[in-house]
Amino acid sequence: MERFDLIVIGGGPGGYLCAERAAQGGLRVVLIEGKHLGGTCLNEGCIPTKTLLYSAKLYRHATESEDFGVIGEKVVFDHAKVIQRKGRVVKSLVNGVASAMKANKVTVVTENGRIAGRTAEGFRVLAGEQEYVGDRLVLATGSETAIPPIPGLKEALASGFAVTNRELLDCEKLPETLAVIGGGVIGLEMACYFASVGTHVTVIEALPKIAGPVDPEMCRIIMDAYKDAMDFKLSCPVKELTADGVVYEQDGQRQELKCDMVLVSVGRKPFTAGLGLETLGVETDRGAIVTDRHMCTNVAGVYAVGDCNGKAMLAHTAYREAEVAVRHMLGQPDEVRYNVIPTVLYTEPEVADVGETKESAEALGLHVKEIKLPMNYAGRYQAENEKGKGFIKLVVDMDTHRVLGCHMIGSYASELILPAAMMVDTELPVERLKKMVFPHPSVGEIIREALFQL
Ligand code: NAI
Repeated sequence: MERFDLIVIGGGPGGYLCAERAAQGGLRVVLIEGKHLGGTCLNEGCIPTKTLLYSAKLYRHATESEDFGVIGEKVVFDHAKVIQRKGRVVKSLVNGVASAMKANKVTVVTENGRIAGRTAEGFRVLAGEQEYVGDRLVLATGSETAIPPIPGLKEALASGFAVTNRELLDCEKLPETLAVIGGGVIGLEMACYFASVGTHVTVIEALPKIAGPVDPEMCRIIMDAYKDAMDFKLSCPVKELTADGVVYEQDGQRQELKCDMVLVSVGRKPFTAGLGLETLGVETDRGAIVTDRHMCTNVAGVYAVGDCNGKAMLAHTAYREAEVAVRHMLGQPDEVRYNVIPTVLYTEPEVADVGETKESAEALGLHVKEIKLPMNYAGRYQAENEKGKGFIKLVVDMDTHRVLGCHMIGSYASELILPAAMMVDTELPVERLKKMVFPHPSVGEIIREALFQL
C-alpha cells in the first residue's frame, strides 16, 4: 500500500494537468492511467485530427492554387505517410507529458484504476497488484464513443465495416467512399479530411442542419465549400447498417447508401463504467459525474474533471477544470466560467465561437446589438481569400457596453477566437477595447473593425 496526498485516475488533459498543478502546489501525487498519457485528446482526438487536417489543407492549397499563380504539375497525396507523421507527432507529445510528470515528481502508474472505497486512512484505489491510498481523489476518466442501438451497427463495428474516429485515424488506406453517421464536430472534421484528399464522403445527419448549435449561415458556407466532394443528407436519421451500406430515412422513405466504410460519430458519453463510484456513493446523472463549479462531487475530497463530468467535452475545458479543482484543494477560491469557453470547428473555413449569440443573450433578457461584418473588411483576409465568404458576428451588451460573444467563420478563426474570448472574459468596456492596437495587416483586424461599428 502506498500513500499519497492526491490520487488522479485518468491521464488525459484533465488528469495530467491536475497532477502537474497539484504537484507544483506541494502535493504528493499518483496518476493512474490504463492506456496512454494524453488520453483521447493526444492519442485519438484533437491532435491526430489536426495533424491530418493540416496535410489536407496543404494538399488543397497545392491543388486549388491556380488563381494564386501557383500551378502544381503532379501533386500526390500519400495518406499512409500522413498517418505515419501523425504517429510521430502523437508520440512526441505523449513523451512530453511523461517528461512533465517526471519533472514534477508525479508517480505515474500504467494500470486501470478502480475505486475500492474509503477507510480511515483515505480513499482506496486498486491498480494492478497495488493499492493506493489518498487524502483526495480526482476522477478524470474521460469519455467514449456513444454507440446507439442501430440494428446491424454492432456487427458492422465487429467486421470493421463501421469504425469510430479512433480506428479511422489509424486506417492507412483511403476508402473510395465513406459514409459518416452524424454531422457533428467529429463527423465533420473527419469528413473534411477524407473529402479533401479524394474519398467521396456522404454525411448523414438526423437533424435538419449540420454542426449542432453553429450559426446556420456558417453551416451553409461549410457545405458549399465541400459541395464537390461531399454529399449532405439532412433530416435523415440512420435506421440500420447492412453488410455494405447504410439505411436511412428521408421524407418517410427508406433509402440505402452503399459505401466502403462507415464512420459512427453520433456523440460521446462519459466513461465511468467499472470505476467503482458506487463504493463511495459518488452521484452520477445519466453516467456523468455530478460536480459543482469547483469540480467537487457530492463526496468531500472527490473531484471530477474533464469529459467524465459531461459538462463540456473539450480538452481546454478539462484543463481549466483541473486548475479549479487543484485550487479548491489548496484553499484558493476559483471557479469555471462555462459561458466563456471558446469552441472551434476545424473545417476549412474554420468556425469559432465564444460567449452569447444574439438569440441566447436576448433570451436572458439582455439588450444587445449584433454587429455582422464580412471578413473582407480585413485587408489580409482579402489578400489570401479573394472569394472567401467568411464573416464575424460580435454581440455587445448595449447597457453595459461589454462584448458578450463573438462568432466567426474564416481563416485563422481558431486563433482569432482567443482575443475575442479575452474581451468577453475580462469584461473590458468597448471604449477601452477600441484603444487596442491590432497589427496591420492581419485578419484579426476584423475584430477592431467590428468594435468601431458601435
Ligand atoms: P456531436 O454531438 O457533436 O454530433 C453528433 C451528431 O449525430 C448530431 O448532429 C446528431 O443529430 C447526429 N445523430 C445522432 N443520431 C443519429 C442517427 N441515428 N442518424 C444520423 N445522425 C445522428 O457528437 P460528435 O461529433 O460525436 O462529437 C462528440 C464530442 O467530441 C463533442 O461533444 C465535442 O465536444 C467533442 N469534440 C470536439 C471537437 C472540437 O472541439 N473541435 C472535435 C471533435 C470532438
